[in-house]
Amino acid sequence: MKIAVIGSGYVGLVTGACFADLGNEVICVDNDLDKIKKLKNNKIPFYEPGLDNLVKVNVREKRLSFTSEISEGVKESEVIFIAVGTPPREDGSADLSAIERVGKEIGTNINGYKLIVEKSTVPVRTGEWLRNVIEKYNVNNCEFDVASNPEFLREGTAIQDFMNPDRIVIGVENEKAAQILISLYQPLNAPILVTDIKSAEIIKHASNAFLSMKISFINAVANICELAGADIKKVAKGIGLDKRIGEAFLNAGLGYGGFCFPKDLDAFIAISKDLGYDFKLLKEVRNINDYQKLFPVRKLKEIYGNLSGKNIGILGLAFKPNTDDMRLAPSIDIINALHKEGANIKAYDPEAMENAKKIFKDVSITYCDNSYEVAKDSDAIVIVTEWNEFKYLDLFKIKDLMKDNVIIDGRNIYDRKKIEKLGFKYKAVGR
Ligand code: UDX
Repeated sequence: MKIAVIGSGYVGLVTGACFADLGNEVICVDNDLDKIKKLKNNKIPFYEPGLDNLVKVNVREKRLSFTSEISEGVKESEVIFIAVGTPPREDGSADLSAIERVGKEIGTNINGYKLIVEKSTVPVRTGEWLRNVIEKYNVNNCEFDVASNPEFLREGTAIQDFMNPDRIVIGVENEKAAQILISLYQPLNAPILVTDIKSAEIIKHASNAFLSMKISFINAVANICELAGADIKKVAKGIGLDKRIGEAFLNAGLGYGGFCFPKDLDAFIAISKDLGYDFKLLKEVRNINDYQKLFPVRKLKEIYGNLSGKNIGILGLAFKPNTDDMRLAPSIDIINALHKEGANIKAYDPEAMENAKKIFKDVSITYCDNSYEVAKDSDAIVIVTEWNEFKYLDLFKIKDLMKDNVIIDGRNIYDRKKIEKLGFKYKAVGR
């Protein structure tokens, strides 16, 4: 099938490359000329394991190409995925101006039947609105359908998530649109749920809100465990073995970050308000997360009282492992708070340091080449992101290099007994 993907950011590029790999002819479009130039030279503008190779192979096989002209993408394709950004506005609601611009371009350039699919996360009823935007500019009076096909890709495992999804959600207005999308996804052999457009739009926001709620719930229980002297890891296991609850997403830690959960939660709260419902539960999910992010700062203050002049080493900056994404990462709140307390900060992350430097312009941080450099002369080390390499550090060496011996394990990656035996003062979440 001939496909255009408009917006070659994270979602668009992964979607485009994967559809090409399934044998389709895909044009990825972006109005950022520099990005398109890089992509044409096989350079991926962000870090995602396996994506560079997937792009390279499919470009070579002539199934994947790039352009900065929406008109080219629209004219050449039957199915058009919209994967442009829907960033949050001040009140948390999604800014749909990029989608509106794309809708206008589609309408102006439409030259035959097109199926236009929302891939970006959008508020419920955007499908209706998008249909009107396109119709307004549809001077050639061409037939088209609008559909919603939300993405559930996780950064770091996006290709695997695309190729082996738990489910594919297709929101459509008629059988023709349903059949096109079903045949497109047929090779994946995954369960396909066909709904109306509005339900598909809500499925995306409700899924991310539910997952955020699971994380805040377990973090709140972790705080109770700490107060009671119980172990959150055992409690999470005990809860998760109930099939109705499930073990996934019950890792207590420093809360969720990234661009999706915080943004989608705010958007869902704003959508609910618009529709006349005050979603207080989700507001509390957000409050718990905001509190949880500062767990390491609270622990360090309990230990040292005053953090002024203390050397604090940060291991991990990205919002989660296997990504260089710093957007709304807990490390930002933690480092800003430590800086305000007067601490000296050293940090290391295997992938996210370049992005971190852009964020911490006004904070003095010594960026290190590895964990041992961070440990040198540190009073305390905080594990902020659970990169695999932090799980297998030579902790004898770390202890030798440190000035004091405090480890704040914000992601519960170490075994308390082993680490205390080595002589560390160890604080973990809910254990
Ligand atoms: C998420 C959704 O999972 C995906 O379906 C959606 O389309 C985009 O948003 P992503 O943001 O890439 O994906 O990361 P994910 O792996 O879901 O983790 C989100 C955050 O939750 C991270 O900050 C992670 O550290 C945190 N998390 C996750 C926990 O704190 N505990 C857990 O048990 C799981």
